[in-house]
Amino acid sequence: MPKQHTAMYKELIDKLRYQKSLSKDEYLKLIKNREDISEYLFKNAREVCESIYGKDIYIRGLIEFTNYCKNDCLYCGIRRSNKEAQRYRLTQEEILSCAKQGYNLGFRTFVLQGGEDNFYTDEKMEKIIKSIKTKYPDCAITLSMGERSFESYQRLKIAGADRYLLRHETISKSHYEKIHPKQMNFENRIKCLQNLKKLGYQVGCGFMVGSPYQTEENLAEEMIFLKQFNPQMVGIGPFISHKDTPFKNEKSGNVELTLFMLGLIRLTLPNVLLPATTALGTMDLLGREKGIKAGANVLMPNLSPVTVRKKYMLYDNKICTGDESAECLECLKKRVGTTGRTIVVDRGDYKTN
Ligand code: 5AD
Ligand code: FES
Repeated sequence: MPKQHTAMYKELIDKLRYQKSLSKDEYLKLIKNREDISEYLFKNAREVCESIYGKDIYIRGLIEFTNYCKNDCLYCGIRRSNKEAQRYRLTQEEILSCAKQGYNLGFRTFVLQGGEDNFYTDEKMEKIIKSIKTKYPDCAITLSMGERSFESYQRLKIAGADRYLLRHETISKSHYEKIHPKQMNFENRIKCLQNLKKLGYQVGCGFMVGSPYQTEENLAEEMIFLKQFNPQMVGIGPFISHKDTPFKNEKSGNVELTLFMLGLIRLTLPNVLLPATTALGTMDLLGREKGIKAGANVLMPNLSPVTVRKKYMLYDNKICTGDESAECLECLKKRVGTTGRTIVVDRGDYKTN
């Protein structure tokens, strides 16, 4: 790229840093011309992140408590139609035992993640949430179990849930419809996110990078939506094809573009909690380290029992499915160390400044 163009795009990054937003066209320009400016973006993103969160990296203990799912997302390995998936559900006791191990390792946030599984009624979830909260009142509970009614979200909030992750997957309705079956509805997904916010959850949304049919313009639209919705967390990761889904032959997303999006998100929402995801670590051995260097400040290692880990295969070749939680944490501590940051024992709440 000619030097004067690089200078122009760097100025656009400066503008984003100070104004904390750009127009869709400006985001698109940066995304299209990312090659020579990504290091400059990452440096700015790291500075902004450290000015708010210091050197701390937060960890969330992920408990994948069910891989039954009534939905049929075309990209997802635990979709209903995948007859190859071996299904499992964890009992309340098994979930509590994961939390206990996690607590002893220093986790102060537990993420209960699962497919959309009607087996886990509001009553069952209330019991599970209350039992964790009673034993570990100093911990935050994050739920990630898909679309439910306003009343259901409300009951779970009252039972003690603090946060909710529901990736919107894409903000383009037409794109949403290309990667989901007709039974799923884009408007309802967004409505759910709004309901969660209304109920006082700390809310996380997010999208895949490089999912089939996604365009760079779609990614610019993601940035406009994020600025407007202003979530406390944003989960993004590369799309990775799964062999037993309709998208088995689709190209997987790329790491370099995911990192660039992380940097843009950090400058747009300076205080946001931003994980370097397992999908990023799956596509690139050093993906999570690179994510931290691009502006991420959260890691979500697996606390699920080793016996079920290989069954929660959202995509092919998922990492960390053979290790005990303690091994995962040791590995992450070393990895985070190489970035000059430190994993802390902390709930890691959203900082409002
Ligand atoms: N590749 C990458 N991410 C995926 N997810 C589901 N399937 C895939 C895939 N094939 C992500 C979705 C979902 C989250 C739990 O995992 O974004 O919200
Ligand atoms: Fe379960 Fe998409 S396949 S929510």
